[in-house]
Amino acid sequence: MEAFSFLLLCFSLLDLTAFCVARDTITTLQSISDGDTLVSADETFALGIFSPGTSKNHYVGIWYNKDPTKAIVWVANRENPLTDSSGVLKVNNTGILVLLDSNNSLIWSSNTTRSAQNPVAKLLNSGNFVVQDDTNSDTEDFLWQSFDYPGDTILPGQKFGRNLATGLNWLITSWKSSDDPSQGSFSYQFDIDGYPQLVLREGTTKRFRFGSWNGIQFSGGPQLKNDSVFRFSMISNEQEVYYVYWLVDNSVHQRLQVTSDGFSHRTSWSGGNTGWTTVSHLPVDDCDYYGKCGAYASCDTNSFPMCNCLDGFVQKTTDSSSGCVRRTSLSCNHSDGFVKFSGLKLPDTEGTWFNRSMRLEDCRILCWNNCSCMAYAALDVSKGPNGCLLWFGNLIDMKALSASDEDIYIRMAGKDVEAIEQNRSRKSKKRKRKIIIAVSCVLSFGILILCLAFIYRWKKHLKGKIKEETESGAINSHHDEDDLELPLFDMCTITSATSNFSSDNILGTGGFGSVYKGILEDGQEIAVKRLSQNSSQGLQEFKNEVMHIAKLQHRNLVKLLGCCIQAGERMLIYEFMHNKSLDFFIFDCERGKLLDWPRRFLIINGIARGLLYLHQDSRYRIVHRDLKAGNVLLDDELNPKISDFGLARNFIGNENQAKTSHIVGTYGYLSPECIVDGIYSTKSDVYSFGVLVLEIVSGKRNRGFIHIDHNLNLLGHAWTLFTEGKCLEIVDASIKDSIDLPEVLRSIHVGLLCVQRNPEDRPSMSYVLMMLSSEWTLPQPKKPGFFIERDAVGDSSSSSNNKLLSVNNLTVTQVCPR
Ligand SMILES: *[C@@H]1O[C@H](CO)[C@@H](O)[C@H](O)[C@H]1NC(C)=O
Ligand SMILES: *[C@@H]1O[C@H](CO)[C@@H](O)[C@H](O)[C@H]1NC(C)=O
Ligand SMILES: *[C@@H]1O[C@H](CO)[C@@H](O)[C@H](O)[C@H]1NC(C)=O
Ligand SMILES: *[C@@H]1O[C@H](CO)[C@@H](O)[C@H](O)[C@H]1NC(C)=O
Ligand SMILES: *[C@@H]1O[C@H](CO)[C@@H](O)[C@H](O)[C@H]1NC(C)=O
Ligand SMILES: *[C@@H]1O[C@H](CO)[C@@H](O)[C@H](O)[C@H]1NC(C)=O
Ligand SMILES: *[C@@H]1O[C@H](CO)[C@@H](O)[C@H](O)[C@H]1NC(C)=O
Ligand SMILES: *[C@@H]1O[C@H](CO)[C@@H](O)[C@H](O)[C@H]1NC(C)=O
Repeated sequence: MEAFSFLLLCFSLLDLTAFCVARDTITTLQSISDGDTLVSADETFALGIFSPGTSKNHYVGIWYNKDPTKAIVWVANRENPLTDSSGVLKVNNTGILVLLDSNNSLIWSSNTTRSAQNPVAKLLNSGNFVVQDDTNSDTEDFLWQSFDYPGDTILPGQKFGRNLATGLNWLITSWKSSDDPSQGSFSYQFDIDGYPQLVLREGTTKRFRFGSWNGIQFSGGPQLKNDSVFRFSMISNEQEVYYVYWLVDNSVHQRLQVTSDGFSHRTSWSGGNTGWTTVSHLPVDDCDYYGKCGAYASCDTNSFPMCNCLDGFVQKTTDSSSGCVRRTSLSCNHSDGFVKFSGLKLPDTEGTWFNRSMRLEDCRILCWNNCSCMAYAALDVSKGPNGCLLWFGNLIDMKALSASDEDIYIRMAGKDVEAIEQNRSRKSKKRKRKIIIAVSCVLSFGILILCLAFIYRWKKHLKGKIKEETESGAINSHHDEDDLELPLFDMCTITSATSNFSSDNILGTGGFGSVYKGILEDGQEIAVKRLSQNSSQGLQEFKNEVMHIAKLQHRNLVKLLGCCIQAGERMLIYEFMHNKSLDFFIFDCERGKLLDWPRRFLIINGIARGLLYLHQDSRYRIVHRDLKAGNVLLDDELNPKISDFGLARNFIGNENQAKTSHIVGTYGYLSPECIVDGIYSTKSDVYSFGVLVLEIVSGKRNRGFIHIDHNLNLLGHAWTLFTEGKCLEIVDASIKDSIDLPEVLRSIHVGLLCVQRNPEDRPSMSYVLMMLSSEWTLPQPKKPGFFIERDAVGDSSSSSNNKLLSVNNLTVTQVCPR
């Protein structure tokens, strides 16, 4: 009864007081002063007067109502703080929001040009603070809205871009510091001088370019994609250019922010005390920094040096980051041509010319006819190449991307165009010749094979198994057109290439069979993986899986050249790596010196990228299950390439992250949950990666690690030293002279985060990459999964593992001469 009358009292006072019930609206009769808040109807956001951090100044702002950290998303009087707590926010009769201090002088006001009969100010569920006419409060007709004047944050549903008609620029600018919301030195906005592009600046200097929109992705951010909770779209037309995102799941909150240290962060909070976690963070690597390599060069953190001139260009000076110039200068008559480049972040579009409706052919002609036009590209590739974008100055700020749908055509002297085209066609001819050889080989042996297949089938028929071999007949006679997507090598080609699988040619024996070195007739070296024959998989299934593996292409994965399925044999043909595998180097005192620290750090990053691709970027979410030093091969330039990926999923069955009765993998790299419960997930790969990082840094094998003072394994040893602040003791003696201290410490730290016992505590690979390349303070790692070396569990599934175990058991810590 008492409660009821209290409620009645509340309702009667509702219009007059600021207390009692949370409200989302103020009328001209009401005001907000220190201590009062407006709360949006769904209680997500709150508006009120606050003081940031240790500051004594007061500001009117909007924050997440239930967030313990009170993350501020908008500030009204950023530049003009209240110096005491007696400020008052009102909406006056003309519909203008005014903030007055104790002397009644104006601190801040909103911009409204129209007036309303009965203006009210309301905090919407989206976090938008709006002034509208109370009589038509259901419409989206706002006299004024805070979403038009972003601070350092863009919320879901808020437009980030420009209104070209009204000239409104929805940009975000960083705070000066966490205590001072006034405008700092970093800004993030759409530049519209030329084709619109998203640029992060420090003062007036470009720092990072997220780039232009091509209908599918941003040229500098192909990683930004719709996912299970996050959706975005980009609107670009004559009236408006803006980016907007929204969340599918109401319980997750995300915000995009430019921070006072000059990064663009997307952070996520899923309610409660969980705090905000970073989803993405830009710039990510060195190549993201604007113009890192100068003109006509492409930047690639995986290559050494990072900067490489495009085909047809040569370095301007000996400094590789000074940019490049044409090998042959343009003659400026119609003898020039264009060379197509793929897999590049499109260069800076400042000063470009564009037309949205032109066809690409006309675009080419337009560029060709204007001597100062240096390159052209399509504007929109979502429905095939469309539109026209022309560059007139030097092409700056390009980066090598593994996933890019955009091509750019660069003007070059006729002579260079020919040379480059010859070079390129020579490469593809080589590939074609290979197919022709294989096919003719198949034809000449066709009859023999058919006979063999027939006999084989007949034999199987007696055993009552027919189905699989009917398929094999179809494969061998090459009727299936889409087979040709992946070259099928003929048995005879492989047999002669590997000198009839001579044991001299064996490169190694892994979990799934032996690997042979081979040389094709045209001199190309290959590695042939001859799969052990105990697979129960059907042929069609096998073919499909091989197709999947072949589609996994990344510079940090070993490339599959083709396969061979004949006479009951299943073989995979890979590119050959001259520099063997990582274990050949890092666990050897002398050879270890060949890989200095900068090289090792590149290798760590390369492995991380390859793994990230498998886990996330490729179309098939792939868990490697057997990542180890022996499965990381090194190419001619010592770039790491992961091998044996995709095999586990395909050859052990499709349990996909589920429980399995076989343990695949190698002791020492296997996470606790794999060994104990047989559960594999991307997080078990992260564990193996962590072990690998610590091995690369220390030059010691995790398995077989022995220390005179204790019986901890390498992980335990590293963790103990880490907690004692003596990390450097673990560093390999052969790289002591070349280390970069922060990089080494960060690598060890990240390694330890990866090997934490609980899979949920381990970071994802995208997070690992960010942590490796940034100066964030990293979380404290918990105790690693396996701390003390246990006795070998003798029930390893594959014989090769046992072999490896025994080899490793013999490995004693080597004492490297200093
Ligand atoms: C509302 O405030 C603005 C800015 O201070 C002022 O120009 C305008 O006259 C005020 N309107 C009324 C009705 O007080
Ligand atoms: C109000 O005015 C008085 C006298 O001009 C001044 O001393 C005081 O600092 C002012 N207060 C604020 C909050 O501006
Ligand atoms: C208000 O509008 C004027 C003129 O349109 C503009 O110069 C000023 O910057 C605006 N103020 C704010 C806070 O947007
Ligand atoms: C993301 O999904 C939405 C629909 O949910 C769609 O409208 C939008 O175009 C998608 N964005 C991209 C970049 O594919
Ligand atoms: C274009 O100029 C180059 C040298 O400037 C000359 O060799 C070539 O013949 C010219 N081609 C045409 C078609 O005029
Ligand atoms: C763009 O191209 C179309 C088709 O070629 C043409 O009709 C239109 O006038 C062009 N627009 C501009 C601004 O050049
Ligand atoms: C070439 O393009 C530039 C930039 O758009 C323009 O200023 C110039 O007039 C054009 N030249 C010719 C010959 O069309
Ligand atoms: C063609 O390829 C060779 C070797 O791969 C290289 O040395 C040469 O510079 C290339 N020529 C051009 C024009 O790119």
